[in-house]
Amino acid sequence: MEAPSSILSILCITLIFFSNLVHPTFSELCNPKDKKVLLQIKRAFNNPYVLASWNPDIDCCDWYCVSCHLTTHRINSLTILSDGLPGQIPSEVGDLPYLESLEFHKLPNLTGPIPPAIAKLQNLKSLTISWTNISGYVPDFLSQLKNLTFLDLAFNNLTGSIPASLSLLPNLDALHLDRNKLTGSIPDSFGEFRGKVPSLYLSHNQLSGNIPVSLGKMNFDVIELQRNKLEGDASLIFSGKNKTTQFVDLSRNLLEFDLSEVEFPSTLVSLDLNHNKIKGSLPVGLTALNLQFLNVSYNRLCGQIPMGGKLQSFDNSSYFHNRCLCGAPLESCK
Ligand SMILES: *[C@@H]1O[C@H](CO)[C@@H](O)[C@H](O)[C@H]1NC(C)=O
Ligand SMILES: *[C@@H]1O[C@H](CO)[C@@H](O)[C@H](O)[C@H]1NC(C)=O
Ligand SMILES: *[C@@H]1O[C@H](CO)[C@@H](O)[C@H](O)[C@H]1NC(C)=O
Ligand SMILES: *[C@@H]1O[C@H](CO)[C@@H](O)[C@H](O)[C@H]1NC(C)=O
Ligand SMILES: *[C@@H]1O[C@H](CO)[C@@H](O)[C@H](O)[C@H]1NC(C)=O
Ligand SMILES: *[C@@H]1O[C@H](CO)[C@@H](O)[C@H](O)[C@H]1NC(C)=O
Ligand SMILES: *[C@@H]1O[C@H](CO)[C@@H](O)[C@H](O)[C@H]1NC(C)=O
Repeated sequence: MEAPSSILSILCITLIFFSNLVHPTFSELCNPKDKKVLLQIKRAFNNPYVLASWNPDIDCCDWYCVSCHLTTHRINSLTILSDGLPGQIPSEVGDLPYLESLEFHKLPNLTGPIPPAIAKLQNLKSLTISWTNISGYVPDFLSQLKNLTFLDLAFNNLTGSIPASLSLLPNLDALHLDRNKLTGSIPDSFGEFRGKVPSLYLSHNQLSGNIPVSLGKMNFDVIELQRNKLEGDASLIFSGKNKTTQFVDLSRNLLEFDLSEVEFPSTLVSLDLNHNKIKGSLPVGLTALNLQFLNVSYNRLCGQIPMGGKLQSFDNSSYFHNRCLCGAPLESCK
């Protein structure tokens, strides 16, 4: 009785073994070309621990830091975050033609320039290289990535001026170039965005020169230019009742203009103008706004703070260090 049953179980195991060979449980979805490129990228980074899951015996659609398109199974995103990963961005990233999102974030040991091969990624919608030590210029070739909706190069060591050609990106929702070492002026072309008008983040650089008059034609939702060396009349950015601007930060520049006659958009939520050379008085129109934040301190403003709206709800530090502003929340006018 015992012998046949053990033969049967051996037969069974053998059958399972062969059926696995005929129908392998491992059927790879990932495209072999993409897999080859990813393994080249891993090698270029010197096989770092953060890419340990990039094992050639495993379907690359199952690897960490990447994802595959649901139907084409082509690699459509590559994201490497918060790691000591040393080295430069390998040019092989340009050989993942179906990438829609590429992100390198919080990699303090990532150095070198933005490789020109990135210009090949014509399907790219989102490009983030932020909080790294990459250096060199903001490349002109980024303007070839017509599908970009989001471009974030903030918090790096980028130098040189802002390429005027970035205004040729027709679908851009947001442009972050803040916290670099960028010099030169804001390109005139930033008043010529033809498709969408992106939210613009250029703060914490060394930008200089006059605010281009052309910017007055644009309706930015958010514009942050604080901590640069910008000069001139910046009121054209946020004046105009027809605009729908919400957040404006122009603090710590060398801006010089008269605030008295400015007509603010009714959508304005936050206005920071501290540390400039702004003169005139606070217009009564400010009382009609549903402001959540206002700071006009350290300027050359004069006259009574208009009564009403949110203006008396702000701390006196929103208004102090001006030439002769007075009235609540500062001391009453003499
Ligand atoms: C970056 O590299 C330096 C020098 O090799 C190393 O000491 C440091 O730990 C690295 N940074 C991180 C976040 O791993
Ligand atoms: C750049 O590297 C330096 C050390 O070389 C480090 O202190 C700094 O945090 C790095 N910058 C970023 C944004 O990671
Ligand atoms: C943008 O992406 C679409 C597919 O999402 C593609 O058909 C088109 O060619 C891309 N645009 C450019 C300029 O390559
Ligand atoms: C930033 O770039 C400058 C000039 O390009 C270079 O001298 C400096 O070492 C870089 N800093 C870091 C932390 O990489
Ligand atoms: C503002 O909008 C109104 C009505 O839509 C229009 O008549 C007026 O010309 C616009 N003003 C400006 C300066 O665009
Ligand atoms: C306004 O800005 C000044 C200068 O940076 C700062 O000292 C003050 O605390 C700010 N006040 C508010 C309410 O933000
Ligand atoms: C601002 O208010 C504080 C108390 O809230 C007061 O001590 C200070 O003197 C005031 N400063 C000015 C410039 O009015």
